[in-house]
Amino acid sequence: MSEAATPPGSVPGSVFPPGFDPTAESAEKTLCFRGFWAWTVLLLLIALGIAVFMWLLRKCIQGPAYRQANRIDGKVVIVTGCNTGIGKETVLELAKRGARIYMACRDPGRCEAARLEIMDSSRNQQLFNRTLDLGSLQSVRNFVERFKAEESRLDLLINNAGVMACPRTLTADGYEQQFGVNHLGHFLLTNLLLDRLKHSSPSRIVVVSSAAHLFGRINREDLMSEKKYGKFFGAYSQSKLANILFTRKLSTILKDTGVTVNCCHPGVVRTELNRHFAGPGWMKSVLQTGSLYFFKSPKAGAQTSLRLALDPKLEGSTGGYYSDCMRWPLVPWARNMETADWLWRESEKLVGLPPLEPPPSQSPTQNGNGSQNSNGNGSATPGSREMQSVETVVVNRS
Ligand SMILES: NC(=O)c1ccc[n+]([C@@H]2O[C@H](COP(=O)([O-])OP(=O)(O)OC[C@H]3O[C@@H](n4cnc5c(N)ncnc54)[C@H](OP(=O)(O)O)[C@@H]3O)[C@@H](O)[C@H]2O)c1
Repeated sequence: MSEAATPPGSVPGSVFPPGFDPTAESAEKTLCFRGFWAWTVLLLLIALGIAVFMWLLRKCIQGPAYRQANRIDGKVVIVTGCNTGIGKETVLELAKRGARIYMACRDPGRCEAARLEIMDSSRNQQLFNRTLDLGSLQSVRNFVERFKAEESRLDLLINNAGVMACPRTLTADGYEQQFGVNHLGHFLLTNLLLDRLKHSSPSRIVVVSSAAHLFGRINREDLMSEKKYGKFFGAYSQSKLANILFTRKLSTILKDTGVTVNCCHPGVVRTELNRHFAGPGWMKSVLQTGSLYFFKSPKAGAQTSLRLALDPKLEGSTGGYYSDCMRWPLVPWARNMETADWLWRESEKLVGLPPLEPPPSQSPTQNGNGSQNSNGNGSATPGSREMQSVETVVVNRS
């Protein structure tokens, strides 16, 4: 009777319906369970891989940092354009290392806000707010005059301020804005401070240029972009090339003086430099969001300037171009000394400085204006320029 009650195909005494194999079911469940975890682990690994890749890429974008802990207590420093961006981060780091810093900015209100913030975080009280508008040669002279009355030495000058791709406007002296601010203003400033730098040697000059110099050419026929104005590829790139040619020429002038001069490209940095960008609103938003990841932070952007300013290993190194804290070779047009000489002479005329050297084609008894120089032999010696007081500099733009 009992055998007859067992349905055909079912295991006698089993509670499972016929044809049902409980071992196969549990094996399937186990497989499903393992499959779920395998996929989860795989997805987690992929996510982890992407995160590590993004982190490494971000690290590469940020570039190397200057990590040596050397202090510069009491060293006198000038940094131009340091109320924001790369300049502000540069000042913060130098302040933490004990420098006595003159913050040379065109807007005293913004400069003061930055100064207070930096004093708070660095606990350095030796920070001074000074007005310098590089778009006015008179402002440059006033700044130098006041600085010289306050300080007898200068250990470090960082020419950082800059303007990029603005609409064509003129400086107070009638020069194209980007060439006037980025090159001419700094040219005059540096020349007027050379005596203090030499007196404090070993001392350093750092010039913040840009990789944009690669697109630049010195347009001898139209230096002020009067005939044709290109905001970025024209005027900005030319001014940044001028920064490099200035560095190269100055390094030869300062040979054996103990004053070194080097220039750098800070990287592509998230700052206010693109304030004149005139694209549509959506493009600005995309750029701003993208820049959070794809651009260097201002702190990372300051690292090459900081290395040039601080690294004891660079004592004596001069005339170099650096990026990501490393020295890089220059393209031929950025190391063309004939162009550098020409630009130097032209800049002297434009800012009203007497020539350091006689023009190549003239007799040594005449300067560029056909008049005698102060030392009577037609060429001012490298030391004679800084002996002139700021007020006696001849303004001659012929
Ligand atoms: N950011 C980048 O990706 C990048 C790339 C290559 C090179 N650079 C170079 O790095 C340097 C610093 O730029 P940043 O990126 O830090 O730009 P930023 O945030 O715009 O800072 C520029 C600074 O220069 C000052 N400045 C502008 N015109 C001036 C004038 N006529 N007189 C005195 N100061 C003036 C600005 O003062 P206000 O705030 O009053 O205008 C500001 O403090 C520039 O030389 C720039 O060419 C930057």
